[in-house]
Amino acid sequence: MPTQTVPHNEATISYDGKSISLPLVRGSEGETAIDIQKLRAQTGLITLDTGYGNTGSCRSTITFIDGEKGILRYRGYPIDEIAEKASFLEVAWLVIYGELPTKTQLEEFRSSVTHHTLLHENFRRFFEAFPKDAHPMAVCASSIAALTTFYQAPETDESVNDSIVRLIAKIPTIAGYAYKHSIGQPSMYPKNNLDYASNFLHMMFGTPCEPYEPDPVLARTLDLLLILHADHEQNCSTSTVRMVGSSHANLYASVSAGISALWGPLHGGANQKVVEMLERIAAEEGSAEKFLAKAKDKNDTTRLMGFGHRVYKNYDPRAAILKKHCGLVLERVGMSSRMLEIAMKLEEIALKDDYFVSHKLYPNVDFYSGVIYQALGIPVNMFTVMFAMGRMPGWIAQWLEMRHDPEFKISRPRQVYTGATQRAFVPIEKRG
Ligand code: SDX
Repeated sequence: MPTQTVPHNEATISYDGKSISLPLVRGSEGETAIDIQKLRAQTGLITLDTGYGNTGSCRSTITFIDGEKGILRYRGYPIDEIAEKASFLEVAWLVIYGELPTKTQLEEFRSSVTHHTLLHENFRRFFEAFPKDAHPMAVCASSIAALTTFYQAPETDESVNDSIVRLIAKIPTIAGYAYKHSIGQPSMYPKNNLDYASNFLHMMFGTPCEPYEPDPVLARTLDLLLILHADHEQNCSTSTVRMVGSSHANLYASVSAGISALWGPLHGGANQKVVEMLERIAAEEGSAEKFLAKAKDKNDTTRLMGFGHRVYKNYDPRAAILKKHCGLVLERVGMSSRMLEIAMKLEEIALKDDYFVSHKLYPNVDFYSGVIYQALGIPVNMFTVMFAMGRMPGWIAQWLEMRHDPEFKISRPRQVYTGATQRAFVPIEKRG
């Protein structure tokens, strides 16, 4: 991944009457960073950046985001173009391997994924061990980690490639099993004659009692949703996958950690929280204005879920695409959506409200995705699982890039210690 060390361009840091010059690194889109890799060795200083909002953890060639302009590109291709013109498996190949697949590559990849969708039969006992009301994210994180026990081959390029196909292929089957277990229905085996999204809908809504034909329009919508979630540079869960993988933990273990990080309501769990928020407003017949007043109140922990972003200080381009598709899906399933009406009202008011405008808070990917998942019949507690299914290629791609980084090293941040200085041990009898 070529980046330039900007010639004769350095940043100078002055401290305690001394100063040090550090090289500037500039990326292909003009992003500029101070390379501080030698800072501590040369000065004893470290930097402090709680939440890493100003810290680049790596160089990457996978996804580019311009938060000010609301730009998102996978390997240089704009998200709106990819979302409308490509399939999820095509995007998965692009994100993981760096180029759009040829027709042959895509067919071989699709066939390989299709023929790895089955889970080992022992997984049935694994799922039966979970309580019926187990959250599907806990089931998914555990199941992905458990794949390590079924595939123990030493890590080689070939065995990693097998793991890549297995993760892409089996996450829908695991999700389907988790859902069926939670409603006490028999899990459905994947069907090799169905495309990726249709197969998932079959494993979710099919039953042995009667034939189930996934609606192709809804399957395409699901495919689009997965594409929009495929990668998003160094977000919380992806940074977790990189962190865990940097210890040379295997790909399954690293992705399992990423799923756990994604579960948090401030991250991927927000899509579930958005619909719960919309349902609360609808149930309480609460006005959008009343809710937003709470979200703005410093003394109130209420947040407008699905709004705001660490990087986007403009409209999340994924939210714009999803908003457009909400109406199409609702029309297809013959549903009106009070949720969508409330969501659009909240957005209309928030985008004119000084608090949200001054804080640069706009709808993010989670604000409208839940409305579509609900229209597809997917239960609320499965929404974040859908996010994980879409993000799988991104986690894989970022893990691979980290492992092949010529500057690879295990991640180990420093800290500023603010605890007790040295003190003598006090025997228990003297502790009062
Ligand atoms: C995802 O990183 C990624 O790329 C993530 C993601 C991906 O694809 O991987 O895009 C997916 O996680 C999207 C984000 C989903 N989360 C939510 O929708 C939860 C609601 N949003 C927030 O909690 C918040 O906006 C974050 C967590 C998303 C971002 O938080 P930051 O950047 O750390 O900002 P902050 O929490 O420090 O907030 C800055 C200010 C604060 O006010 P002040 O104290 O400065 O006065 O903005 C306010 C916050 O109170 N604020 C909000 C708000 N989000 C931020 N106020 C009301 N409602 C909100 N939603």
